[in-house]
Amino acid sequence: MTERPRLLPLLGPAGHSGRDAMTCLYRCGNACDHPVPNESANPYLGDVVSDGVTRRGVVRAGAVGALVLGIGAAAASAGAPAMAAPAAPAAPVPELLENLKKGKAGALGFKPIPPNKLDTVIVPNGYDHAVVMRWGDPVLPGAPALDVRRQSAERQSAQFGYNNDFVGVLPLGRDGRRALLVVNHEYTNEELMFPGFTSLEAMTVEQLRTAMAAHGLSVVELERVGGTGQWQPKRGRRLPYNRRITALATPFAFTGPAAGSAWLKTAADPAGRTAIGTLNNCAGGVTPWGTVLSGEENFNQYFVGGDQAPEALKPKLARYGITTTARYPSGSRRWERAQERFDLAKHPNEAHRFGWIVEVDPFDPDAKPRKHTALGRFKHEGANVIVAKSGHVVAYLGDDERFDYLYKFVSEKKFIPGDSAYARRHNLTLLESGTLYVAKVTGDSPAAEIDGTGKLPSDGAFDGTGQWIKLVSGNRSFVPGMTAADVLTFTRLAGDAVGATKMDRPEDVQPSPVTGKIYAAMTNNTNRAVGTNPGVDEANPRSANKHGHIFELVENRGDHTAETFTWSLPIVCGDPADASTYFAGYDKSAVSPISCPDNVAFDSAGNLWISTDGNALGSNDGLFATAIEGSERGHLKQFLTVPVGAETCGPFITGDDRSVFVAVQHPGELTGASLEKPASTWPDGDFAKPAVVVTWRLDGGPVGS
Ligand code: FEO
Ligand code: CA
Ligand code: CA
Repeated sequence: MTERPRLLPLLGPAGHSGRDAMTCLYRCGNACDHPVPNESANPYLGDVVSDGVTRRGVVRAGAVGALVLGIGAAAASAGAPAMAAPAAPAAPVPELLENLKKGKAGALGFKPIPPNKLDTVIVPNGYDHAVVMRWGDPVLPGAPALDVRRQSAERQSAQFGYNNDFVGVLPLGRDGRRALLVVNHEYTNEELMFPGFTSLEAMTVEQLRTAMAAHGLSVVELERVGGTGQWQPKRGRRLPYNRRITALATPFAFTGPAAGSAWLKTAADPAGRTAIGTLNNCAGGVTPWGTVLSGEENFNQYFVGGDQAPEALKPKLARYGITTTARYPSGSRRWERAQERFDLAKHPNEAHRFGWIVEVDPFDPDAKPRKHTALGRFKHEGANVIVAKSGHVVAYLGDDERFDYLYKFVSEKKFIPGDSAYARRHNLTLLESGTLYVAKVTGDSPAAEIDGTGKLPSDGAFDGTGQWIKLVSGNRSFVPGMTAADVLTFTRLAGDAVGATKMDRPEDVQPSPVTGKIYAAMTNNTNRAVGTNPGVDEANPRSANKHGHIFELVENRGDHTAETFTWSLPIVCGDPADASTYFAGYDKSAVSPISCPDNVAFDSAGNLWISTDGNALGSNDGLFATAIEGSERGHLKQFLTVPVGAETCGPFITGDDRSVFVAVQHPGELTGASLEKPASTWPDGDFAKPAVVVTWRLDGGPVGS
């Protein structure tokens, strides 16, 4: 630990779950105070999928995913040019799988840290941490340092943005000494950014433009510090990869079947093929071909004038959480004062140009980033890709809203291994065409045994089968009454129509590169079985689910293109002393309390790392790790906590297992705090700044073990 712990101010008014009300306002426009956008009558407990799929009949996926993806997702061994794993995997994958089954590999050796409310980053004994990049640090050569009294859109467009979320670290060159850090900047908190802030309405247009420039992504070249697991930004006048992508001005090309459709056409873009900017970029993923995917999440909150949008469009807008009953939704950022396109009364289609998966090629700073319509439009948390045995690439996707859905995309074309220019060019097109599915999930226990308390059913597990329901394939829609462009632009409505399963806020969804099993974080859903909202089901078994759970999905025959799967809940989160929790049957007295799982990641041994957002147990948010195979499955331990008011985002374990990156998002975001009266002074002792942190083992060994 490099800083002395400080005692903390009291927490502000509670928002939902453990979030402060200020986070609810800025992060998602008080989404939880609005009606649940999914009002569809779509039954969440559908018919059992019965094609004979059983848990026992499923062969574990393994070698294919691991060899193609590289280990730990950082090491795209078969992917991009000039990329290499910092180190080779420790063992051939089949051996690793055997070890995993026996519980021999991936035993997590660190001593868990206790829950706490300290205003610093806490890591286990024997580890250290350091800030890599913080809000306002120069990204482009010659960019000025942060001066909060001299902020401008121009300066911010050259500096590290606000509220870092997704973190990807891609090896640069083959010597393990350089890497590209790619980070999302999800949203801004103007109260904590601008001195003398009074209200969103009173902000100057230049301040609005500055906030728009603080959204988006950053690409930053890193260098390893000595031979350690620490990384720092490269400085100098030649930083060819360093790049800022913003909501203010960066053009994006639409690809796929909805590109050029009537839904995407606006006065500024009559062709419907080029969007300006990206919004509310939450989680993401690194592809096997060395690009970064990023999910546009709570884009709804940036728009005003929904009340004056065309009547026929209003239900579609409302399904995405856009206010259609008032000109100015509560907490509106009023961006229409800087750019008129954010006024839906004048430009109703502009909202449809957000809510997509974005692909950025960090190795080509001149490449125009793209929005892939083939992956559908919803409140995308992120996207993680695995190469199926057939060579098709499969992206797993979550729609982070209470009672929304899980999706997957299967590419039409196949992945070409290797780093030839031909392979690279080809692989860059893989997400432009394919098939989009939504998940229907069914339990195998009698409904009467799922009583909402979290008590396990008599077969001893929350588990069952599932079906991937085809929504669209290429230009062909499988949803009656909707064209392919309709399905892709209003994917939530397509999911409603086919009876997809209403889940408890599906956030990050990621395949294990070692086993090929897929893990999804269900963050929470305090509305489950409350009032007229949908009741519990075996996959979402707790009413008023405050602490969330982990959903494990195994594709039929280990084939990621399969249309059926089995599933179970290995972890039902909360205080282990609470009877409603479950940790894969592991001795609960040895397990750390965890609340509100959000992002997931894997190390090279296949251990599952989970970061949290909105701890409802009274501790700061943090990062946890557990073995997920063998006898240690469910032995969850807390690895790290972040400062007061912050959320832990982005966890990323480098391919050599020597560095864990996390994004500390919204430190000090407590109601009543301001830049002058900060609730957190992390990381520099003056006022709170979101920052990316790297953690490493002091003795140079692999993290976790
Ligand atoms: Fe941006 Fe779903 O958290
Ligand atoms: Ca069961
Ligand atoms: Ca998230």
